[in-house]
Amino acid sequence: MTHASHSPAPSADWHENAYDLVRGLAFYSGSLLVDGIAKVIARHPEANIANAFNHKQVGCKLWARDKLLESVGPAYRKIAVLGGWYGILPAMLLDDRRFEIGAAISYDIDPAVEKVAHTLNSGFGERFRALTADMYALDYSSLQADLIVNTSCEHIADLRGWLGLLPPGTRILLQSNDYFSEPTHINCVSSLDEFRTQAGLTHIDFAGALPMRKYTRFMLIGTV
Ligand SMILES: C[S@@+](CC[C@H](N)C(=O)[O-])C[C@H]1O[C@@H](n2cnc3c(N)ncnc32)[C@H](O)[C@@H]1O
Repeated sequence: MTHASHSPAPSADWHENAYDLVRGLAFYSGSLLVDGIAKVIARHPEANIANAFNHKQVGCKLWARDKLLESVGPAYRKIAVLGGWYGILPAMLLDDRRFEIGAAISYDIDPAVEKVAHTLNSGFGERFRALTADMYALDYSSLQADLIVNTSCEHIADLRGWLGLLPPGTRILLQSNDYFSEPTHINCVSSLDEFRTQAGLTHIDFAGALPMRKYTRFMLIGTV
């Protein structure tokens, strides 16, 4: 027997239900980020936003946000996020009232993610931009970012080569992991020490490991 208030086939209206639910959560919480996710569900049904905003992804980014605040502080003129995907980390930073951030820019080589990142961050207006670019082809001196973030280190072939493009003294936040079995992870590390050696930063403010169920995430905050 089906109760009148229950859907008979839970999967049939998944998309519409998810939109209604997240829109309600946005209204309830007042979060511009959650409102952005509702808009992504409505406008970009092809985007894998459920994967990008699953609790493990959110956990790694909450960890990044908290350790950045503790080890470096709250004020940034311009943050550049490389391999920024749907722009979730910029949204989490711009949505956090503990920080004072002038602007956040998300760069990704995949042209399909730019419009999704714009939709997700539409509530932040001029403070957010998304651009399609290869992180190996950018001129980092002209970017004039006071923080460069790359939480996609496991996705890029030559981390040290990329770090070599940044002006000496650039402040950086990096994450990688030991999730070797995921086919798109082409440059995992087995330990925090291996990540530290791979990055070769000149100064480290924070180095840590966050164990998840299937893998461990590693993070370095420091300067090149
Ligand atoms: C799956 S996502 C992000 C995973 C990561 N754990 C996170 O959420 O921060 C990795 C992103 O890196 C991007 N990427 C890979 N190589 C890149 C490059 N050379 N320049 C810019 N973006 C790149 C991919 O297009 C993809 O959107």
